[in-house]
Amino acid sequence: MLSFDDYAKSSASENNREDLASKGSAALSDTSHGAAPAAAPGGLSQPVVDSSTAVMDFSPVSAPKGEKISSVTVAPALSGGTKPVPSPSVVVPTAAGGGPGVTGVEDIDFKASRINVDDKRIINCRADLNQLVPFKYEWAWQKYLDACANHWMPQEISMSRDIALWKDPNGLSDEERTIIKRNLGFFSTADSLVANNLVLAMYRHITNPECRQYLLRQAFEEAVHTHAYQYVVESLGLDEGEIFNMYREIPSIHAKDVFELQFTRELSDPNFMTGTEENDRRFLRNLIGFYIIMEGIFFYVGFVQMLSFGRQNKMTGASEQFQYIMRDESMHLNFGIDLINQIKIENPHLWTPEFEKEIIDLIKEGVELEYNYAVDTMSRGVLGLNVEMFSEYLKFIANRRCRQIGLPEQYPGAKNPFPWMSEMIDLKKEKNFFETRVIDYQTGGALAWD
Ligand SMILES: [Fe+2]
Ligand SMILES: [Fe+2]
Repeated sequence: MLSFDDYAKSSASENNREDLASKGSAALSDTSHGAAPAAAPGGLSQPVVDSSTAVMDFSPVSAPKGEKISSVTVAPALSGGTKPVPSPSVVVPTAAGGGPGVTGVEDIDFKASRINVDDKRIINCRADLNQLVPFKYEWAWQKYLDACANHWMPQEISMSRDIALWKDPNGLSDEERTIIKRNLGFFSTADSLVANNLVLAMYRHITNPECRQYLLRQAFEEAVHTHAYQYVVESLGLDEGEIFNMYREIPSIHAKDVFELQFTRELSDPNFMTGTEENDRRFLRNLIGFYIIMEGIFFYVGFVQMLSFGRQNKMTGASEQFQYIMRDESMHLNFGIDLINQIKIENPHLWTPEFEKEIIDLIKEGVELEYNYAVDTMSRGVLGLNVEMFSEYLKFIANRRCRQIGLPEQYPGAKNPFPWMSEMIDLKKEKNFFETRVIDYQTGGALAWD
């Protein structure tokens, strides 16, 4: 079983954890790397605990104090806007000082002194970031390795049954066809927006090479996802103009993307630089806008809907494409959570009560926008789903997202109406799939010079 972010903890997941660990699967990502490395001197960089239990716990009850829900220590959710206190084990380095960090294109400082690992920081770091090692943030490097171990390509998934079903006039209802087209419409451009944010906005301001290494892998995965949507559109013979223009023609999709674009725009301004309190907050806001809201909320109505088809043995190829995408996105989300929490640890002054409120308001707005999208994709109950279930699900997810970055839950008592999500993942199939593809790659990857 893959441990997607929003899958409920189950005994099966416990049983399979060891098996997954032996595969180096990203399913484990920060959720189960086994024993966590011991804290490094200074305690700043290492994954603090094995967060598997906490990450897999989808209980809507309030997080216990000190809950570990990412690879870095997360301050307990606070009520009343109290300023979080960084872990006592954390020593925030002062070597970096104020001002913006390096980008990697500065002059190569000949004969400069060698890197001190303690000088590394996620933002505003002055240490050379073209040297990957020595590692400081092991969690980032591990996620890069896990992501590479999960490599997949859309053409490896057969679409033949989907094509037959789509072409059969009685194969799917109009409502079902609308759900498929709207999801392809949203996702086919959404991944480009995410990729743009990564390479045009975020990357430049991340002053740490192991995190940049993961971002480069993530950027490729976003390209694979766009490829997957194009592949499904082409396989089904859909009107590509209709699908790829939905973000300009369907109001709920347009609204979600306009919401996200504001963050990319801010940071892609060539005059924008981190290094001031205000701009560092804007940068954090961007990370939350994309990792927590885009990848952590805006994708989930679509994931549930598309996986629901596979669950009913319909559109199994498209559903499987979305399963692989969801696995990647789950890791992107987990990386983003670690990134945000590490920046909080290193810059506790940024996380003021006013900033908390701003972020909570953004998350609530995201929930509204995603609910409107749910309504737009299915005006009436289809596939055993209805909009009331999505309303509850989005509140459940938003609570979890809040906890993951140390904010209080905003929707007390929200429950997960889709516990079956955890059952969608078939470890056996996953294993076979990988075994098959290893052979495919050895064949397909052979070099030919003539
Ligand atoms: Fe993606
Ligand atoms: Fe992503």
